[in-house]
Amino acid sequence: MTGPGPLAGARRITFVTGAGISRESGIPTFRGREGLWRNHDASKLATVAAFERDPGLVWEWYLERRRGALAAEPNAGHLAVAAAERAAEVRVVTQNIDGLHGRAGSSRVIELHGNITRTRCSSCSGDWEGDLPGMPPRCGCGGLLRPDVVWFGEALGAAEWGAAAEAASWCDAMVIAGTSLAVSPANTLPLAARRAGATLVEVNTEETPMSYMMDASLRGTCSEELPRLVERL
Ligand code: APR
Repeated sequence: MTGPGPLAGARRITFVTGAGISRESGIPTFRGREGLWRNHDASKLATVAAFERDPGLVWEWYLERRRGALAAEPNAGHLAVAAAERAAEVRVVTQNIDGLHGRAGSSRVIELHGNITRTRCSSCSGDWEGDLPGMPPRCGCGGLLRPDVVWFGEALGAAEWGAAAEAASWCDAMVIAGTSLAVSPANTLPLAARRAGATLVEVNTEETPMSYMMDASLRGTCSEELPRLVERL
């Protein structure tokens, strides 16, 4: 494709990404039919209440997803986001917990919902390295170990949210890719960017609740649309 693209002239770009960008790396999205795991509604397992009720079941689900994330490879979408750094200053704010943006080479990634490959104690908050001691696993302090992710009903990390809000008001273009924009507060970032005067570009196979406010809506997959978009920077 030739001619200026929707990001032409952008010097500071913030990407906001969600499960759709990792779909083509084989990681299922959260919502819709894919959001079911052994007949459990996946979104109902990602809660403190589910963990308190049945930590073994929640761990089983996360261990399966942890293995999936570690076995997955970044796809052309993640690689295009990393390549954008050659033409502009870039921040990546992701709701994904799979670590694929970092593995694709993006240097500034804000992981709003944590990282599934890490484990921490739910009581003393200490990081846990290495194998899990039993199931459900316990820390030396006696507290239950948990995946280092943010569950529904929990607050985001203050540092992560602060950096994400700053990246939203800092950018002159925001690319919102592969997210349903159904989850708060991540879905307020496009509004903050718009208020600060940024161009908004969406990449999604489907319409989203914020499509109406986009300067450009690219209806296609992240692995097809993001390389094209970045090539024309
Ligand atoms: N390319 C682009 N978009 C895609 C693709 C693709 N290949 N495949 C799916 N999509 C779009 C879908 O149309 C949908 O809008 O990606 C979006 C995925 O939406 P969700 O599954 O809701 O994922 P996400 O927006 O990341 O969810 C946010 O919710 O459940 C929690 O904590 C979890 O981080 C997650 C948060």
